[in-house]
Order: sequence, then C-alpha cells, then structure tokens
Amino acid sequence: QQHILTDNWGRQMDYLRIAITDRCNLRCFYCMPEEGIHYLPKKELLTYEEILRLTQIFSSLGVKKVRITGGEPFIRKDLMHLLKGIKAIEGIESLNITTNGVLTESFIPEMKELGINHVNLSLDSLDPENFFRITRRNEYQKVMSTLDALLSHGIHTKINMVVMNGKNEGEIISMAELARHKNIEVRFIEEMPFNGSETQQSKIWSAPQILETLRSHYPNLTAIQGDPHAPATQYTSPELNGSIGIIAAYSRSFCHGCNRIRLTATGTIKNCLYDNGVLDLKELMRSGTSDDQIKETLISTVKKKEKDGIIAEANRQNDAGITESMSTIGG
Ligand code: GTP
Ligand code: 5AD
Ligand code: SF4
Repeated sequence: QQHILTDNWGRQMDYLRIAITDRCNLRCFYCMPEEGIHYLPKKELLTYEEILRLTQIFSSLGVKKVRITGGEPFIRKDLMHLLKGIKAIEGIESLNITTNGVLTESFIPEMKELGINHVNLSLDSLDPENFFRITRRNEYQKVMSTLDALLSHGIHTKINMVVMNGKNEGEIISMAELARHKNIEVRFIEEMPFNGSETQQSKIWSAPQILETLRSHYPNLTAIQGDPHAPATQYTSPELNGSIGIIAAYSRSFCHGCNRIRLTATGTIKNCLYDNGVLDLKELMRSGTSDDQIKETLISTVKKKEKDGIIAEANRQNDAGITESMSTIGG
C-alpha cells in the first residue's frame, strides 16, 4: 500500500506522539531549570484545529495510536475538547495520555466516558520530601490521589519513574512494590541527559543495572513478551499483581522496532526523539498547503528516518545548538 508511513528500514509508523504544550506545573530538574524555560508565545503553538487536521491526515496514512504529552497536557485549556475531537477521527483506535498527575484527577470521569482507558503517570518518588527535591514543587499528595482515582475508575495505569543517580535509585524497590497489590505496570526509565539535566553520562543508571537491582529483590522475575514495538521490556514475578517494565531510553536498544513519530508543541515533526526536527508542519499549514501535499511531504519525510537514535543524535550534533527541553519534545 502506498499511503502509509514506512521508512527505508521497513518500519511502519502507526503511533503518533503529540506534545500539546511546553508548559509544566512541576520543575523536575532533569527537564527544566528552577526558573522554568522561556515559554513559547501562544501563536507558536499549534491550535486545536491544526492538531485535529494533522491527526486526521496521519490517520489516513495509517496511524492508529495517539499519545498526548507535553509539557503537562492538563495545563492546556479545554483539553477535553481536543480529546473528543481526536476520538472522533476514524482510524484512531487508541488515545492515551502521559501526565504528571497534578491536575488530572478531576478529569478522570470525563476521560472514562470518552473511552480513554490508558494513562501513563510520571512519578519519580514515593517519598514526599524526595518528590519535592526532584520536582521542586509540593504536589505529591495530588499525584497520589490521582493514582488512586485512576485505579478506582479502572483505567490501565503505568507509572514512569526516571532513575536518577544519587536522587532516587534507592527507591527502585519501593516503587516496584506498588505492583505487588495494584494491577499496574511500574516502569523504570534510563535518564536521558538532555538540556537542563546536570547528570553526567557515566552516572546514568543503565537498564541492566536497574534489572539487577530488581532481581535481587524478586529472584523469580521473568521477561514476558509484550508489544514488540514498545520501548519497555516487561517483567513479571509470582508475588506481583501487576508488572514491571524497564525502558532503555538512553541505551536505545529497541530502535529496530520503532513505530513512533512525534509532533512537537510547535508543529515540528521529529522522526526520532533524538533528532532536531525534520519538518515544520506549522509553517506548511499556515502557508496554505493542501492536505494532499502535506501527505506527500510526510511520506517522503518518514522515509528518511535514521536507523536508530544513536545515529539520529550524532547527526543532530552537527547542527546548531540544542535549544530544546524535554517539555517541548514530549518525551
Ligand atoms: P506506551 O504506549 O504505554 O508504550 O507508552 P510509551 O512508553 O510509548 O510512552 P511514555 O510517554 O509513557 O514514555 C515513557 C518513557 O519512554 C519516556 O521517558 C519516553 O521519553 C520514553 N520513550 C518513549 N518512546 C521512546 C522512543 O521512541 N525512544 C526513546 N529513546 N525513548 C522513548
Ligand atoms: N530522561 C528520561 N525520561 C524523561 N522524561 C522526561 N525527561 C526525561 C529524561 N531526561 C519522562 C517523564 C515522562 C515521560 C514522558 O518522559 O518522566 O514520564
Ligand atoms: Fe525510535 Fe529514535 Fe526512540 Fe530509537 S531513539 S526508538 S529510533 S524514536
């Protein structure tokens, strides 16, 4: 079939990650400096109409799964309006959200009604003081209350914990223990040393190190076959009700199965989390480009996706300075 997004390595992109804002109500030190980043003026962000138009286009090119990220998606006004619009697009089979949980709780019933059944919750510490040290904000109780509400509404929930040397590696087991009684997937993520992060590469907690720590506590931990396209390797153990995942986000050992394409808050397409942006869709739309022309451009842009994130990053280093924060990329 011609109208699908395939790259030169035979991978098909059917998962679109949309960052809808660069703003956030936390200040996780690996993502933003204390004073925050210089937020984008509103006109630099895609409007909901533009996001919906693009999602429609992507859907006609074979995208079936959409994830809303940010920044913190629930900061953007009228998020439910956008979610409804995306839900109504034919061909989009699943719509998921990644959130920090601070503002999320009150929207859960409405999300449930809309059929949004999967939420990934970023949570780096179960200790209120450590939570504050990492996020520089006192919002721990709200996030925990969101977690309870997600579970009581039957929403499939994954916890994302970025493992940070000297900050929270001592909490790996206590975080994993959440999966003992709750049916959730607790995922441990290698820290990616982007802008705003002070972590040296030699200090990054690697996926094998995380696994070793987990095995010392769960000797019967076994890998299970999950989604072959997902970055997480999944594990289970008899004493756990839920499961455990490890994401080698920095080692990038899963690129061969990549099915992801990214739309940043400013309307730029990224073929890879690690590239510098490969197409300015906002500019194309605002200068009157037709849907058909955009489709053609997208098909040829995706073709050029680099083989893996290591190569994408190497190419990016030849470009001018890296000015982005994780909050504009959307993770
Ligand atoms: P699922 O749909 O539940 O599989 O979600 P997800 O893991 O794709 O999304 P989520 O937003 O929860 O991301 C979890 C972590 O994985 C974040 O730290 C992301 O930055 C990282 N991640 C997601 N996709 C990629 C990817 O393509 N490459 C890399 N290097 N990291 C990724
Ligand atoms: N390294 C690894 N993961 C990160 N995230 C944000 N910044 C980084 C980073 N530098 C994670 C968040 C969230 C997801 C979308 O990306 O914790 O769970
Ligand atoms: Fe895909 Fe790039 Fe992530 Fe690898 S690092 S999985 S190529 S987005």
